Amino acid sequence: MSELAWVRFDSAEEVAQAACQCILKIAHEAITLHGQFRLVLAGGTTPERTYRLLASAQADWSHWHLYFGDERCLPPTDSARNSRVAEQAWTGQVDIPPSQIHPIPAELGPEQGAANYGQLISNVLPFDLVLLGMGEDGHTASLFPGHRHPPGSVAVAVHNAPKPPPERVSLSATTLGNCRHLLYLITGASKRQAVTAWQKGESLPISQIQPMGSAEVLTDAAAWDHNLGLGGS
Ligand code: 6PG
Repeated sequence: MSELAWVRFDSAEEVAQAACQCILKIAHEAITLHGQFRLVLAGGTTPERTYRLLASAQADWSHWHLYFGDERCLPPTDSARNSRVAEQAWTGQVDIPPSQIHPIPAELGPEQGAANYGQLISNVLPFDLVLLGMGEDGHTASLFPGHRHPPGSVAVAVHNAPKPPPERVSLSATTLGNCRHLLYLITGASKRQAVTAWQKGESLPISQIQPMGSAEVLTDAAAWDHNLGLGGS
């Protein structure tokens, strides 16, 4: 497992700008290396600005293949769906072939959605890049504290999620780590406590991800308490 690289910017806007450039760079490398760019999108609100920046970027979209780290069990057009947020902010404005955008069929419910998506994802690993956010409790994707999932699962059914909606589908920690690069995007003062806990080595869902390749955490000053170094010393 690789060491985590922590990068701290002054603002969330700078995090988004850096994330956009990093995604475009890794995409170019992946397409040069193996003719495709397999990217897993993060949910929530943090990555939205990055997605909007990508919407006005120049890229070889025809080789991009998009997947999702997790999805809420809502109708496909529901504005709270992670796939819908990405579509409104980015994928609906660029020429990624629709057949290369793979939303999680979470509208089928947690079990069926996880089973179907797990079959799809089993055939596309490893990912080139996985994007992840983090919640205030240290959750990532839809992997929440205290939740247990069958070992060896590719995608998992989530019930009673503490962050609404309660029913979700998530890629497993193992699957999320099965990538050449992993980029965590974490901004805002509300994440500071969880960032500090993570840096101190506390066991959180996000710290269960074992990236196979390189891993970077892009944070802003609000999320990373500058009085604490890495490890909370
Ligand atoms: C979701 C996300 C979730 C999100 C974090 C951070 O479906 O809610 O996948 O894991 O990344 O909760 O959310 P914010 O970026 O909105 O703070």
